[in-house]
Amino acid sequence: MISPQTIQQILSRIDITEIIGGFVKLKKRGANYLGLCPFHNEKSPSFTVSPAKEIFKCFGCGRSGNSISFLMEHEKYSYVEALKWLASKYNVEIEETESSPEVKLQQQTADSLYILNGFAQQFFTGVLLQDEEGQNIGYSYLKERGFRGDIIQKFQLGYNPAAADAFASAAMAAQYNPEIVQKSGLVVWRDGKPFDNYRGRIIFPIHNQSGKIAGFGARIIRNNDRAPKYINTPENEIYVKSRILYGSYFARQAIDKLDECLLVEGYTDVISLHQAGIENVVASGGTSLTPDQLRLIKKYTSNLTILYDGDAAGIKAAHRGMDLAFEESLQVKLVLIPNQEDPDSYVRKHGAAAFLQLISENKKDFILFQLETSLTAAADDSNRKAQLVNQIAETISRINKAEDFTRQQDYIRRSSELLKIDENGLNTLVNKFIRERVSKFENRTAASVRDKANEIASDKTDFDEELLDLLNKDEQQERAIVRSLLEFGLKSWDEEKRVADYMLQEFVDEDMMDNKTLIHILHIYKEWYQQGLEPTARNFLYQEDQQLSTLVVSIMDFPYEVSENWKTFFEGKIPTREELYKEEVQSTLTYLKLRKIRRLMDMNQKDLERAQNQEEQIMYMQTHLHLKKMEKELMGDSGTVIMKI
Ligand code: UTP
Ligand code: MN
Repeated sequence: MISPQTIQQILSRIDITEIIGGFVKLKKRGANYLGLCPFHNEKSPSFTVSPAKEIFKCFGCGRSGNSISFLMEHEKYSYVEALKWLASKYNVEIEETESSPEVKLQQQTADSLYILNGFAQQFFTGVLLQDEEGQNIGYSYLKERGFRGDIIQKFQLGYNPAAADAFASAAMAAQYNPEIVQKSGLVVWRDGKPFDNYRGRIIFPIHNQSGKIAGFGARIIRNNDRAPKYINTPENEIYVKSRILYGSYFARQAIDKLDECLLVEGYTDVISLHQAGIENVVASGGTSLTPDQLRLIKKYTSNLTILYDGDAAGIKAAHRGMDLAFEESLQVKLVLIPNQEDPDSYVRKHGAAAFLQLISENKKDFILFQLETSLTAAADDSNRKAQLVNQIAETISRINKAEDFTRQQDYIRRSSELLKIDENGLNTLVNKFIRERVSKFENRTAASVRDKANEIASDKTDFDEELLDLLNKDEQQERAIVRSLLEFGLKSWDEEKRVADYMLQEFVDEDMMDNKTLIHILHIYKEWYQQGLEPTARNFLYQEDQQLSTLVVSIMDFPYEVSENWKTFFEGKIPTREELYKEEVQSTLTYLKLRKIRRLMDMNQKDLERAQNQEEQIMYMQTHLHLKKMEKELMGDSGTVIMKI
């Protein structure tokens, strides 16, 4: 854990334009900076950075956040990784709070392994490029296969000499800890003597998300039956196969930009495609995708295209794990490469344009493809076919997120066509699976159920447009309340009170608000304020809960730039929001109060209609008059209510 002091130090040095400026070309425009959005393709800049508020926002794609969330999105760092990156940029020494001895030991081992792997990579690359054996055997092999020098360097390829212990002696001479050396898998000990494990092999370093070398794949030069084609790093503190996708470090920006990830099998496929200029590609290492790998892909895109040679084994392997892909809302497509070719050989033979064309013309929906092949295999076996119907219904039922509703319907329609069964029947079956899952879900912890309930509550997909409009309007007013608190809360309201005191006092009960997340912010605000902390937007921005942080950013107004001309023309007569803050606070509060009164009136009206006797009727009518009076007073209070939309 990084200590709070360190975090404070890092945050105090953050300069958002400098940080983002390192990745995006920014130009000054008034109070803000402007550039081309790194998160979507655009020709004219709509990506805006506000140094004053320490936030960025793209008016094209809507992404927004602070320096840390920028690093998290752009570089795919975790919160802690982003802090570490900033710490090293600003030369802040990281002070860690005490962790347990086991955790410490593990971290030390991990650090040592990274350092050793870095050393090994340099050694192997050195041999490949400078040593005679390396050039004659290793480099000439790579050249024969058509790899360019720049690509060999980019992927930091290397060669391990054929001698028994060329690397082992170098590592020993450089005094690396034998235990670590053994753990790395680079060297094995036999009869107390160290031997190189990858003798006479081409070395493919495997980079993790941040570009550090987690392990190696070592390819034999001439295939033979007695030795495996590849030897890979054994599992250790830093090489966890199920979490690694080869090439992801080099692919991340291209995947982000193109919003698609190509998945191939081999190291050489990734490298060849890069050489051809196709960079949104990662390799699974020939095994089925794991949940961790799927999640990694999901961080960059929801479009996964799997490229396989025509044989069925690979497809089978890929199929395991696809249910999970569905749950993660990944759209999985499949392209079969014809004639026993793999992406490496195909792109080499036919070129990048033909390769891209092959993909775009042969992309098939993975699930439907699967269904089609299984159907052909089942032929007339009606038992088998019934099984298939169940299987597909179960799979489709996993797309149960509201936003994927049309996708689900689409699958139901197309699958029932393929299966030649009634669409409604399949629909019913899918719903049955959904219900089963929901009831299972309800048995889980109360907390997660509550979260889900909130999610459903804030989900408005079922409402019609008009209602949605209305809700949006309300929601904007609610946001305005929270925004005013964050922005002006600590300013004075009158001689005795600050804005926050006034608002929190006026704003007695939270059922004046509907939006759960806004209420959540309000809660935290109150808590901090009562504890004497300063709940400013900035402090909200940098706390660890990124969801909360993003939310705060999204409700913050971007400071509008006032052009110089306007300023001089009016000689500062344009009232800024800052100057109007009391009015803004008042009018939003009034709006919400009015809304509440109207809701009460509605409820009262319904009660009135249902009244059992005259006594009750009179009571409800009196309530109505009372509410009406309150409404009038409120309207009078602020003249007309300013609707700020
Ligand atoms: P391939 O046999 O397709 O290898 O295995 P490749 O990467 O395309 O290599 P070339 O083009 O023949 O030189 C695909 C992947 O499966 C894993 C490796 O990750 C390889 O890249 N594999 C394969 C192993 O781990 N061990 C093996 O013995 C074979
Ligand atoms: Mn290959």
